Amino acid sequence: MQRRTFLKTAFASSAMLTTTPFVQTLFASPTNRLHAQKTSLNLVPGGSATDVWSFQKNSFSPVLVAEQGEELSVSVKNDVDKEMTVHWHGLRVPNEMDGVPHLTQEPILRGESFRYQFASHDAGTYWYHPHTNSAEQVGRGLVGALIIKEPKDYPVDADQTIVVKDWRLNRRFQISNSFKSWHDMSHAGRWGNLVTANGIYRPTFSFPPHSRVRLRIINSCAARDFVPNFSEFDHATLIAIDGHPVPPQPYRPWLIGPGMRIDVVVDVPAQRKPLRVLDQTNGLFSSEMTSHLFSIQPEGSAIRASRLKDSPPALPENPLAKPDLNLAKVHQIVLSGGMMMGVSNIMRGVFWSINGVSMTEVSSYKKPIVSLKKNQSYIFQIVNDTGFAHPIHFHGHTFQVLSASQKYLGENYWSDTIFLSPFGRADVAFVADNEGLWAFHCHVLGHLSGMMGVIEVA
Ligand code: C2O
Ligand code: CU
Repeated sequence: MQRRTFLKTAFASSAMLTTTPFVQTLFASPTNRLHAQKTSLNLVPGGSATDVWSFQKNSFSPVLVAEQGEELSVSVKNDVDKEMTVHWHGLRVPNEMDGVPHLTQEPILRGESFRYQFASHDAGTYWYHPHTNSAEQVGRGLVGALIIKEPKDYPVDADQTIVVKDWRLNRRFQISNSFKSWHDMSHAGRWGNLVTANGIYRPTFSFPPHSRVRLRIINSCAARDFVPNFSEFDHATLIAIDGHPVPPQPYRPWLIGPGMRIDVVVDVPAQRKPLRVLDQTNGLFSSEMTSHLFSIQPEGSAIRASRLKDSPPALPENPLAKPDLNLAKVHQIVLSGGMMMGVSNIMRGVFWSINGVSMTEVSSYKKPIVSLKKNQSYIFQIVNDTGFAHPIHFHGHTFQVLSASQKYLGENYWSDTIFLSPFGRADVAFVADNEGLWAFHCHVLGHLSGMMGVIEVA
């Protein structure tokens, strides 16, 4: 029997307080509808409104909340673009619910709706976004958080989802229309010039002194990666990466590429100064408008006499099949681009490839770059043969990161998106236990101009 549908949505921006210890603060209004529509947001408090696309009127990033194992049922209505689908990033859903146009479903045409139904095996922090004309649809704001709750409430006073997104705005605070820029597509993708968290520039989240808060940070940018720095906090603990538990450890700067997430537990001090979380990367696209992600403000009376002294407990493990590294079959995955692509591809706006295959989001081409046998273990040795970074995302599966040549990443953790630095490499291992034709692509959405392929599990 199917269990009762339990699905709630909420505005990601509602930072709420609780005065009762150990009560979760994931807020919800009982709706299971996402309505992609044109609306507007005040990204900069006091600034002019920006026309955006959103899954909910006058709000950014509705949060869907479900319990682990419970069936979600979400109807999506498309009122913005010619075509749309929604992909549940990081969830191991049945292939026909994965939201990849022409591969797992026909697109939702403008004015039409589609109902997604699936249960999540895994608890944790995930997100959702369209998989059609993604650079533009995500770039204009169509993203949302997807929280799958552990069966037993995790012992924190508050649970705050923080969806980071950058925007490319012109001087009138409107989104620049340059989504098809061949320069962006063939270089680092489309980076914004303003970074917001929950749709607000430099928001402040207030919590009582001595409270313990779980922060779920989601990178929903189309190209930007960042490395949050918690050095203004005395007690910040990393408890999950890309949705899945890690042994709780003092936070060290961790890279969150497009599509990636971390869960960090912070103990709020008894001081009056806000604590800032800054992006410590200082690259070509960093500025004052992009580097301050959000602040935590201790506010109100202390929730207890002193801060909790025990370290935050480990989250329960998710039911992931462990790859057998001795029996695993090894595949090389090579990411190429630039001059390797040849003039005829480049003239068509195809700039990238994976093992020689160049798909785009609307390709009807379905020939897999690799075919895998169901329930067999695999190791992918991913080699980045380009001078640009590529966060590589595999649908329908969660892999173990064995190694990655990126100093702000680690090894032996579960993930669905592995960040390849320029000319870097990474080894990942997994059990091919989800049948179907699965997208495998770069999450710099402008790189969907070729850096996408299909992996078959049969
Ligand atoms: Cu988050 Cu195929 O994408
Ligand atoms: Cu890429």
